[in-house]
Parts: sequence; C-alpha cells; structure tokens
Amino acid sequence: MISVAPAVASAVRHYDLFIDGTWVAARSGRTFTTPNPSTGAPLATIAEGDRADIDRAVQAARKAYEGPWSRVSARDRGRLLYKLAQLIDQQAQRLAELETADNGKPIRESRYIDLPQVVETFEYFAGWATKIEGDTIPLPGPLLNYTLREPVGVCGQIIPWNFPLLMTAWKLAPALAAGNTCVLKPAEQTPVTAMELAALIQEAGFPDGVVNIVPGYGETAGAALASHPDVDKVAFTGSTEVGKLIARAAADNLTKVSLELGGKAPNIVFADADLDQAVEGAMMGIFFNQGQVCCAGSRLFVAEPVRERFLERFQARARSLRVGDPLKPETQMGPQVSDEQLNRIKGYVTIGRREGATVLTGGESPRLSGPLKRGYFFQPTILTNVRNRMRVAQEEIFGPVTAVIPFKEEEELIRQANDTMYGLSAGIWTRDLSRAHRFAKAIQAGTVWINTYNMIHPAMPFGGYKQSGYGRELGRHALDLYTQVKSVWVDLSDKPIGWYAA
Ligand code: NAI
Ligand code: MG
Repeated sequence: MISVAPAVASAVRHYDLFIDGTWVAARSGRTFTTPNPSTGAPLATIAEGDRADIDRAVQAARKAYEGPWSRVSARDRGRLLYKLAQLIDQQAQRLAELETADNGKPIRESRYIDLPQVVETFEYFAGWATKIEGDTIPLPGPLLNYTLREPVGVCGQIIPWNFPLLMTAWKLAPALAAGNTCVLKPAEQTPVTAMELAALIQEAGFPDGVVNIVPGYGETAGAALASHPDVDKVAFTGSTEVGKLIARAAADNLTKVSLELGGKAPNIVFADADLDQAVEGAMMGIFFNQGQVCCAGSRLFVAEPVRERFLERFQARARSLRVGDPLKPETQMGPQVSDEQLNRIKGYVTIGRREGATVLTGGESPRLSGPLKRGYFFQPTILTNVRNRMRVAQEEIFGPVTAVIPFKEEEELIRQANDTMYGLSAGIWTRDLSRAHRFAKAIQAGTVWINTYNMIHPAMPFGGYKQSGYGRELGRHALDLYTQVKSVWVDLSDKPIGWYAA
C-alpha cells in the first residue's frame, strides 16, 4: 500500500523556472517558499517569476509554436502526450506524496483520485490529437467549401492550488493535443508538482519551449501573463474576483479567455432519497479536499420531513472523520492549504453565527499534537438555521463548512437553488426519476449530479453558468477553447467570377 512518504522526507528542495527547455533563476534573482500546510514548515524554495520571466517564456513559446512544434505531426503530438501520461503513472506515488506535502490533501485522495485523473486526462487528450478535423460544407454553386481547425497559438494558463497537478493536466493536455504552446503559472501556494511535471515533460521529449512553467505571484507573474500582447489565449481557474481582473486585462488585446470560477452549489436531499446514500453524498460534497472544491455542495437543502433524521446521521458521520496528518493512509481530512484560507474560513463561521446560524458540529480548529499543532487544520463543520440569503449561503467559503437549508416544496426549492450568482454544479438525491430530470433541466448549472456528487471525468465537459465562468474544459468541448476555425472557399467553375465584366 502506501509507504511512509520517502519523497518528502528529504531536506527543503529548490525549483527554478522552466523556460525554453531549461531551468533558470528568475531575472530578479528572487525566490519564495512554499510551506507544508500540515506543519507550517518550509517544503521548497521556488524561483519567483515576474513580468520579465513571463516575457521570456512567452517568447520561447512563440518561437516553438512557429518553429519545431508546427512541424510535429498530430500523431507525434499524441504519442508525446501518451508518453507523458506513462511517466506520470510510473511516478504516481512520489508525485502524490509531494502533492499532499504541498497542498495538505489526504494521500488517499492525491494517490487514488488526483493522480489517476491526471494520467487519464493526458491519455484522453493524447487520443484527440489525431481526431481534430474540419468540415466540408455543401453550398449552392460550383464551390468547394471546407473548414480547418487550427491551434490558437500561445496559451497563457493560470491555475489555483486546490488540485495543483490535476489543474495543470486540464490546461496543458487539450492545448498541446490541439498544437498550441503553453506558458503555465501554478499557484504560489502549491508550485511543487507542476515543477516536477516540467521535468517529465522534458523527459517525454517535447521540443524546448512548447511548455514553459513560471511560478510566481498572481499580481505580478499572473497579471503579466493575462495582459501579455503576444499571448493568444488565456485560460484561468480560480476566484470569480480574479476571473474578472483577467477578463479586463485580456480585453485590451482582445485575447481569447476561458474562465472556470467559483461556486456555491446546491446539494438537495428529497424525502424519498436513500438517506444513507444522501448522507455519504453530503460528506463527499463538502469534506472532500477539505471543502476546497469549486463545485463543493456547500448549500445543503434538506426536505423538512427527513431533516432531523438526516442531520442526526450526517452529524455523526462528520464527527467521525479522521482529521490529521494527510500523509497517513487512514487520514480522511488534512489541513487547509494556507493560514490565509484557514482564517477566511474562521471568519465565515463568525459571520454565520452573527447572521443567526447554529454551529451543529465543528466550527473551530481541532486540537492536534506534535508538529501538527502548527498546521492549518479545521474541523468538519455543519451550520444549521441557515437561510439562503445569508452570506454563508451566498459566498464561497472554500472550506469544510456546509450550510443546511430546510425546504418544503419543489418550486420554492428550485427558486432558491438558483438564487445565487454562481452556477457551476448541483446535486440531487431522490428516487423519483421524473423529479430528478425536472431538476436537471431547471437548475442553472454546468454540471448536475443525480444520486452522486463530485464526479468528474476527462471525457465530460466541465464549466460554469452565470458568474462561475465561461467555456467548457474537458471532453471534446475543451478543443473549442484551444482551436480556431478557418473557412476556405474554392471556385470550381471554369469561368472567372465575371461580376464586373460588361
Ligand atoms: P485566486 O483566484 O487569487 O488565485 C488563483 C490563481 O490566480 C493563482 O495562480 C494566483 O496566483 C492567480 N492570480 C491571483 N491574482 C491574479 C491577478 N491579478 N492576475 C492574474 N492571476 C492572478 O484565489 P486565492 O486568492 O488563492 O483564493 C481566494 C478564494 O478564491 C478562495 O477562498 C476560493 O473561494 C476562491 N478559489 C476558487 C477556486 C476554484 O477552483 N474555483 C480555486 C482557488 C480559489
Ligand atoms: Mg488571491
């Protein structure tokens, strides 16, 4: 099974920037430290990229795009992606340990959910490389019309810290399959696995400059990438607030943008649901990855007739979660990613109390011993007596805190479920088939789960309605983000156009 973390046992490591196939220090010479959120101790030092480094990386990506990468066949692009998937798979245990050390997620999640998803995402898009096709479109007259689906060019990709390596895969895999080159900026909280991936990209044999990875802060490196005039497309996952900044920055150059932003998903338990299943679904909805999930089921609507029974079981299950050292295989919840996030969550619990919510269970940091005392841990938390208009029901908390809202009838429920600025995902628990599909149609969200929660797969599109963003990642829809369509006309007649003749 799982070994005792040999990958992270060694001393503080260092990573430089990965630009044009080589490892380089930041132009400024600056570095920053990423801590292990379980203890607050430094895990790695990282070169701190900023505008000058982003500029260098964009130039390298442009050169590769117009040069060697444009001559690589679709088949070879697919083979490179497939090779990369294999290399990741071979190192899955080590990468999972590093992910857990940098992010805090339990090893059972990084090893058996994140890493397999990363591998499958690269494999899935490897298959697409040879299947990106245009159309032949019939038109009247002696004309041949067809379309070409071409890459967009240089892609700037900015990702968050909640699924560091998986978000890297979601961004790089479709972009590379379609023939683009990339400059990726990992989150400052969790840069380690992206830098490890850079080494594997090199080993797989991608030409220099096809993938450049430049860690750094959002306001400097991130902003430089979003506003760079030679970037053709920007893809962002993160907060709605920063998503708006990115869209504004990109507007000056009319850079194409896709955004995957926050959520405040309704997870709905009807009276006819299998209650045990629904309780497990509620757990998965809010405690998976310490609740740091954009599609977290953070508004738990529970039908009045089963509310008490449901809450009794849910509460008992939440209390039984094993919170602790995420590198231990039995741990079910690790620390939040940072001090900042922990404080934000505590702040929301205070706000909830002030708004009149009750803390049914949790609400504070657990008492842990040894080095974990300094970790950023928080207890699984259930808030009851919540109304949908309260801030704790409207704002993304991004932690293991769920807001329970009772409901009586379906029409009012749907109105409330949709009463949010977000629209990323939604869940429903019921045995009534018609109700389930009625709900799937009525809810304003990019993903709907029926009697399940937090399922993703590289073949299924993912993205938001409303202020949860625009564009769909994964599946064939991801190729729309990373290709552009050219329409070609050929006059097949043997006479010239003749419009101006005589
Ligand atoms: P953030 O949106 O600031 O960070 C995400 C990424 O954007 C990071 O790589 C960051 O360096 C970069 N960034 C930040 N400011 C930027 C700018 N001005 N220009 C370009 N790039 C920039 O998220 P943060 O501050 O880490 O977390 C705050 C809240 O955002 C969380 O509590 C959560 O509610 C939400 N969030 C949502 C995520 C999602 O998957 N939907 C992921 C991370 C955070
Ligand atoms: Mg931020």
